[in-house]
Amino acid sequence: MRIGSVGVLVTGASRGIGKALALELAVRRCQVALVSRNVDELELVAREVRDLGGQAAVLLADVADPEAMEEVARQAASRVGGLQVVIANAGVGFHGESDVPPAAEVARVLSVNFLGVVNTIRATAPYLRAEGSSAIGVVSSLSALIPYRGGGVYAGSKAAVCAYLSCLRLELRGSGVTVGWVCPGPVATGMIVDGVPHQKLPPLARLAVPILTPEKVAKTLLRVLERGGGGKVIPWQAAFFASFYRHFPRLAETLLHITGAGST
Ligand SMILES: NC(=O)c1ccc[n+]([C@@H]2O[C@H](COP(=O)([O-])OP(=O)(O)OC[C@H]3O[C@@H](n4cnc5c(N)ncnc54)[C@H](OP(=O)(O)O)[C@@H]3O)[C@@H](O)[C@H]2O)c1
Repeated sequence: MRIGSVGVLVTGASRGIGKALALELAVRRCQVALVSRNVDELELVAREVRDLGGQAAVLLADVADPEAMEEVARQAASRVGGLQVVIANAGVGFHGESDVPPAAEVARVLSVNFLGVVNTIRATAPYLRAEGSSAIGVVSSLSALIPYRGGGVYAGSKAAVCAYLSCLRLELRGSGVTVGWVCPGPVATGMIVDGVPHQKLPPLARLAVPILTPEKVAKTLLRVLERGGGGKVIPWQAAFFASFYRHFPRLAETLLHITGAGST
């Protein structure tokens, strides 16, 4: 499907990758329902969307709340004229020892990063299925594919997302609903500046994998959906390391051990 002049819902649209997605969709003349928990930031993004030629509706919800997401989906479908594309992008970071993570942090990360994706898809599925051709896009992470110290909880939430989407994609094959996701390496957003600083990432990743812009991630995800979905690791250097780890896990783990691979 070509993504242009369609109704789209984007979670985590107030900043970072979600904002970049909203602005790219605006350039494509889409009607965009912008979802997050912060009305002021969303209103600023909505103004930029309108300035670029798109239409915007601001909707407040915590993606971890299934009932709030049902209401958001209902409102989004009526305010942007049906939902042809839904993008589950909202997420939170966490970096810390994987054997003793604070229980509240584990619950927070899983409820936003994994349950938030499931809640978003469950709430919007009836609207997507009502369209002849529609798409679900998700922002996962390279963390799902390559281990690093301090990453267990976050990586676990993102690996769960990838496994869930692989099953969903199989189930929806032939239904007209495309399922696609990206696994980006480090992206220049508040999440790595304020949350998990880039210095905490594996030295190999820091040296060999360039930091992506949010705009690059946004454009890639839309291209993945337009080309039939599935998962894509970006940038290519990260895809190379993920493939190396998958094929030579013992050697890769030794290299990750020797080179540090993050810190807690
Ligand atoms: N930055 C990276 O290096 C990187 C790499 C790979 C993957 N990712 C993934 O990319 C996605 C976007 O992250 P980002 O880097 O753009 O981070 P960001 O700049 O911190 O933006 C996160 C967005 O998610 C929203 N959000 C967080 N918790 C939410 C909740 N409970 N309900 C609704 N919205 C919520 C935030 O809005 P409010 O807080 O206002 O609600 C914000 O709009 C995440 O899934 C992240 O895991 C990031």
